[in-house]
Amino acid sequence: MKIFLDTANLSAIKMYNDMGLVDGITTNPSLMAKEGGDPKKVMEEIVRIVKGDVSLEVLSVDTDGMLEEGRRLRKYGNNVVVKCPLTPEGLKACKILTSENIPVNVTLCFSVNQAILAAKAGAKYVSPFIGRLDDNGQDGMNLIREMREVFDNYNFGTQILVASVRHPMHVVESAKIGADVVTLPPDVLGKMLKHPLTDVGLKNFLADWEKLKKENPNTKI
Ligand code: E4P
Repeated sequence: MKIFLDTANLSAIKMYNDMGLVDGITTNPSLMAKEGGDPKKVMEEIVRIVKGDVSLEVLSVDTDGMLEEGRRLRKYGNNVVVKCPLTPEGLKACKILTSENIPVNVTLCFSVNQAILAAKAGAKYVSPFIGRLDDNGQDGMNLIREMREVFDNYNFGTQILVASVRHPMHVVESAKIGADVVTLPPDVLGKMLKHPLTDVGLKNFLADWEKLKKENPNTKI
């Protein structure tokens, strides 16, 4: 399962990219607004730092506008994936951009039916928003389960990109189901990394080593 970061925060992207944990990035207008600054420069910088796919979202709601923005965004780098909303206009833009070899991530997916249509339109990724479904009193994880089953039945090439992830258990469940990608807010990735027993264990190892060093002051490893 690939791990993407769901952020436009450059320092978080650099930090986790340096650890080799970032297979790609997803952004959206809200995440861009949260970071501020010149959005074009921020997007170009993300595309430069990260080797894997970087999803950049269009702002138009009509197909022609999406096509124009998508083609411009793609010029930022060969790893740019154009993010189009799951609307009739967005699916039409997806089909055309895909035919021009510009990969598309169809975003704002909330049902299996929508996911099937995104796959039919040739999307490279489709992004089901599981946290927002949970917030709405529905079972977000069940959508991933059903999508996996349906996509496998027909060998759809579209990758299931689990989005709107809220906590590490969403990641574990996605991995068990066999999602292709999870995109994580940096704080969720931070929580995956930490375990109190790791911290205690390391502290004790170092304390024991200090004792041994006192008995062998000139030994180095
Ligand atoms: C996905 O690509 C979106 O950027 C994101 O996961 C939305 O998540 P949210 O519900 O936390 O805003």
